[in-house]
Amino acid sequence: MKSFTQLGNQFEEYLSTYQLPDNPSQLYEPLNYILAIGGKRIRPKLVLAAYNLYKEDVSFAFEAAMTVEFFHNFSLLHDDIMDDADLRRGKPSVHIKYDINSAILSGDVMLIYAYKFLEKYTGHNLKLFSLTTKTSIEVCEGQRMDMDFETRNDVAIEDYIRMIELKTSVLIGGALQMGAIIGGASEADQQHIYEFGRNIGIAFQIQDDLLDTFGTEALVGKKIGGDIRQKKKTYLYLKSLELLSASQTNRLKELYAVDGKMITEDQVEEVTALFRAAHVDVHCEELKLVYQQLAFSHLDTVSVSEDKKSVLRTFAEVLMGRES
Ligand code: IPE
Ligand code: IPE
Ligand code: MG
Ligand code: MG
Ligand code: MG
Repeated sequence: MKSFTQLGNQFEEYLSTYQLPDNPSQLYEPLNYILAIGGKRIRPKLVLAAYNLYKEDVSFAFEAAMTVEFFHNFSLLHDDIMDDADLRRGKPSVHIKYDINSAILSGDVMLIYAYKFLEKYTGHNLKLFSLTTKTSIEVCEGQRMDMDFETRNDVAIEDYIRMIELKTSVLIGGALQMGAIIGGASEADQQHIYEFGRNIGIAFQIQDDLLDTFGTEALVGKKIGGDIRQKKKTYLYLKSLELLSASQTNRLKELYAVDGKMITEDQVEEVTALFRAAHVDVHCEELKLVYQQLAFSHLDTVSVSEDKKSVLRTFAEVLMGRES
């Protein structure tokens, strides 16, 4: 059983030897750019780790790992346009470095490459294609909900959970299931591994939302306060509405009012102070723990040795406390 660091190194090596075409350069350059500026590579590592529960040599799973990393990066190219986010991984986002049309089309081709990497898995083809297709559709549904919520003031916490399940956690679950499928896992194991990922993915997005307000820009690599600027209906916002006094709640609602007005930088500070006053970080931690425990209950049921599963358990714990 390999450590996450070892799996990450192997993936990085594979990725660095993979050559995209040179032409048209304006199509492929943005792909090389976004892939070269890094990222944690969580999803490809999860593909390899799930595969490694069943098979020692992980090289057979590299292309599936590429599928999820390409899919993830495609979603980031388009997400940064939708979220009007200028900074990604500490560097200008693709639509800033190049332009919006480049980010759209290079994102599109990245998605298509994600599918192309599955061609080699002749034995599991249909299963991998339908998992990828289902996941892709769900991510788009989640992304649309996320945008719809910006201009809605009746979003419930359960709507938010459903939205982050779709936009983020199904891909984490899907990455793990993909590794399990090609590793030859039983149907039951595949489902529990998927559910482990789906629940960890929910906690992962809550942490992402926390970092968006309370993180350090140099570590997060994104502009702090972006979610507030976009009036995102995160758990931080929704839970604060429950926790604050009546006058504070009214003020928070007023700041997020859907009248087309932009939130000023002073108001971003004000919202942050309200979130702080609600101690919403403590509530985020509690909710993360709920999903982490749900995730672990599924991991417990996977029929491989505890020793092998501990790699995934430790990784999930590290992810929960991540700062980048
Ligand atoms: C960012 O994902 C998008 C979310 C789903 C929160 P990551 O935090 O995994 O981004 P990178 O790949 O490490 O940059
Ligand atoms: C992103 O959620 C989910 C997808 C890219 C599908 P966010 O919008 O919170 O991700 P970041 O914070 O920009 O990385
Ligand atoms: Mg975003
Ligand atoms: Mg977004
Ligand atoms: Mg975010």
